[in-house]
Amino acid sequence: MNRKYRKTVIAGNWKMNMTASEIKPFMDQLKENMPKPRFCDVVLCTPAVMIPTMIKAGKEAKVFAGGQDVSKYEKGAYTGEVSATQLADIGTRYCIVGHSERRQYHGEDDLLVNAKARALLNKGIAPIICVGESLEQREAGVTMEYVAYQVKAALSGIDATHVRRCIIAYEPIWAIGTGKTATAEQAQEVCEGIRAVIRKIYGARPARSVSILYGGSMNAKNAAELLAQPDIDGGLIGGASLKPVDFSAIIAATNQ
Ligand code: 13P
Repeated sequence: MNRKYRKTVIAGNWKMNMTASEIKPFMDQLKENMPKPRFCDVVLCTPAVMIPTMIKAGKEAKVFAGGQDVSKYEKGAYTGEVSATQLADIGTRYCIVGHSERRQYHGEDDLLVNAKARALLNKGIAPIICVGESLEQREAGVTMEYVAYQVKAALSGIDATHVRRCIIAYEPIWAIGTGKTATAEQAQEVCEGIRAVIRKIYGARPARSVSILYGGSMNAKNAAELLAQPDIDGGLIGGASLKPVDFSAIIAATNQ
């Protein structure tokens, strides 16, 4: 983390779990365990239908609501899609794009991820852009090359003012939901590489102000070590974000 230049962000990705009725009890427990003081932004990304409930429940504890996906289109005949305008209108502050599960199960490619990130930025929502290599790619030694390509593609056509509002989440696919976390050194190496890519395109100032998160089996036990790395500015947390006690422990790990 480097709090001088950029925000620390702890974001939960609930994926397709929980229901709107479970949000209030969750939030009550989270509030009880929340560290005071707290030095990071806390976000919970839920399915779109649950965002209004999350916004309401999170107000007091200053927990922001985020989406998990957005349409690349502004409006029109796109049945089932949710637009950035619609997300912004209800008060959504963050939204994940390009999660590996969307790339894998919904055929999202880098071009689409870029279009979605731009759609969000146009409406004042911070995109949390996910990148990360597969196990095969790591074993073949092409991790940084591949992740650099994903970052460049996702940021294509985004100017320096807007890039400062982007959040990049490095999520090695082999670490997601597997209990297999990247070591702090592995995660730092790639996050540092991502910042170098941004520096090359935009220069030093924008690069140092972009928050880069790590995601993939982050939990209460390994969070502190990962967050102690200079280029890891927070976490994107799946499983552990469903448990208020575990999630608050990760939030507390930013108080170092
Ligand atoms: P887990 O924390 O469950 O590994 O999930 C990570 C993730 O995919 C967050 O987006």
